[in-house]
Amino acid sequence: MSTELLFPTLVYRALLRTRASRDGVALNARLLKECRQLRLDDAAGRRWSAHHYPNGYTSYASAHRMQRLSPTFAALAGEIDRHVARFARKLEFDLGGRVLAMTDCWVNIMGRGAVHGLHLHPLATLSGVYYVAVPAGAPGLKLEDPRLERFMAAPPRAPAARRANRPWVTLPARAGQIVLFESWLRHEVLPHREPRERVSISFNYNWF
Ligand code: NI
Repeated sequence: MSTELLFPTLVYRALLRTRASRDGVALNARLLKECRQLRLDDAAGRRWSAHHYPNGYTSYASAHRMQRLSPTFAALAGEIDRHVARFARKLEFDLGGRVLAMTDCWVNIMGRGAVHGLHLHPLATLSGVYYVAVPAGAPGLKLEDPRLERFMAAPPRAPAARRANRPWVTLPARAGQIVLFESWLRHEVLPHREPRERVSISFNYNWF
């Protein structure tokens, strides 16, 4: 007999390493400063967040192309590009000569009580997050099995089931880490319970 793994869902994780400094510490420090400065400068984003992202700030609806506005974010995008290319090779995408390019890049700052409900990223190919600041105890990224809505009479999985067989997997958030996934993969961030802020940068890639 044999069993075969079909239709896998790949998730990519790597630590940011820049060509300039081997580790991404200097770039990360500049990003953190700019994320906080953006919140001060972005009144429209603060207003939007008050309605749609309680206890948090996001530039999702106001400054969502940060890679074009800030050289620091452009440097981050340049690093992420290399990881995206590697991930696309793992996924064996046939891009027909076109390139996967970053289309959107925005800031998320979660204060205590902020939550990010279940969602996917429509009209994007690959999405991901870079973690800038993650206090101990901050929530990770919870991923949902994309087949869940079709499970119907499927029994639950054993508590000790392998990660690949679980309906939800939470990837711990870690400062300096990049996570990439296909944009159709639904994900959420559970409530942030810590007094120190959790800061991340989300982004989308598309092929043209
Ligand atoms: Ni998302």
